[in-house]
Amino acid sequence: MTPSAQTFVIDNCRHGLVGKKILLGVTGSIAAYKTPELVRLLKKAGAEVRVVLTPAGKNFVAPLALSTVSESPVMESMWSDAIDTHHITAARWADLLLIAPATANVIAKLANGICDDLLTTESLAFTGPILIAPAMNPAMWSAAATQENVARLKNRGVQILGPAVGETSCKEEGAGRMIEPIDLLIQVAMAASAADQKTQSPTRARVLLTLGPTRSFADPVRFLTNRSSGKMGAALAWAALFSNCDITCIVGPTDIELPPVGTPRVRVLRVDTATEMHRAAMELWPHHDLFIGTAAVLDWEFSTTETEKIKKQDSTSSEQWQFTLRTAPDILKGVSQAARADQFTLGFAAETNDVIRYARTKRVAKTCDAIFANDVSSGGFESDTNEGVWIDQFTDVAFAAQKKTELAAQLLVLALQKWHYKKSLIKQSQEALRGHSANT
Ligand SMILES: Cc1cc2nc3c(=O)[nH]c(=O)nc-3n(C[C@H](O)[C@H](O)[C@H](O)COP(=O)(O)O)c2cc1C
Repeated sequence: MTPSAQTFVIDNCRHGLVGKKILLGVTGSIAAYKTPELVRLLKKAGAEVRVVLTPAGKNFVAPLALSTVSESPVMESMWSDAIDTHHITAARWADLLLIAPATANVIAKLANGICDDLLTTESLAFTGPILIAPAMNPAMWSAAATQENVARLKNRGVQILGPAVGETSCKEEGAGRMIEPIDLLIQVAMAASAADQKTQSPTRARVLLTLGPTRSFADPVRFLTNRSSGKMGAALAWAALFSNCDITCIVGPTDIELPPVGTPRVRVLRVDTATEMHRAAMELWPHHDLFIGTAAVLDWEFSTTETEKIKKQDSTSSEQWQFTLRTAPDILKGVSQAARADQFTLGFAAETNDVIRYARTKRVAKTCDAIFANDVSSGGFESDTNEGVWIDQFTDVAFAAQKKTELAAQLLVLALQKWHYKKSLIKQSQEALRGHSANT
């Protein structure tokens, strides 16, 4: 992952992690050398981190490295500076316990309720979500004892992250590698926000998103496209993930980082052309509640696509080379016109001049519930920041220039509020109708 892609993922994970207290248990696996990086990522995403290191773990990572990055003393023993409840203090403090890497030994101890050191004692006393990232030799992982212990932990609601398949440090191929720190960060952010949602959330919304550009091919190697990076749409997808939504992303050609596809609530469909995006959106829309159209769909596409590469010499007879374009399908309009009363549609209008006026006209023409009008003359495309105005039937809400990841969270909250309001109006009118027919 490139540094800028990593920054984008960290920024998105902030929605799940800001202010969260993470207790990280580090045990005696070679993968422990990756934990200072894990702590750094968790901290960058806004979490507070405290580390418990087992005596075996100390052979693989220096306590000083972990205390420096976590900005907190590393806890190693329940006997050192013993005070009343030193053995369970961290368990009381934490919102979430992550053990990474987790040895076969610690997994066995947790499965059996053994608490003969600080980490296992804290773990037994901890009542919040527990995540475990195993790391060991593939034979140790597939051993019946380990698998039975893992099954017991899963039954108790412990989340097992990985292990990944590949070459382990003992030069054997198979399942046993600890999953990478950036992937652990995502999983921890999801678990932390899910724990919040359990106490707060109303209904889970199903969000259909389009993002990225589309392409139209003149021949197998040449195409027309635009500068959309898909960043705004991807940020909305991450925000939806951390707001407990089910998400389907229809993605044009972009390599922007999206929520992980293996996650049960995330579905990603890759398309190239406006026609493919339109077909997918129309098919999937009936199974969703909100549509958010951020894709920069081409307005026109080539009328025909040559099956073979157009040869340069074919054009020598003329200085000019002409192609015929046809209007591409209008996805926002198609989806909005097909919307049920209990669905909500939000489109994006990227303009370079007269932004608000064009956006208002566009909202009416497309019959969508809301438009986010953004001026892309100075930013927008490819940029990390965005600003604009939310326009719907009742209100205009201006959003100042800010990171797309932050704007996305605010836009998503507003879209969910408006969707709930729309549904409450339907409910009210149904109740009024029922009351009316009961009285007549
Ligand atoms: C060089 C070396 C590497 C090791 N790597 C692992 C490992 O990746 N996974 C594992 O389960 N155990 C591994 N072990 C064995 C554990 O360190 C050992 O079982 C220890 O008792 C674990 O203690 P802890 O779970 O309290 O940290 C390794 C041992 C050595 C000497």
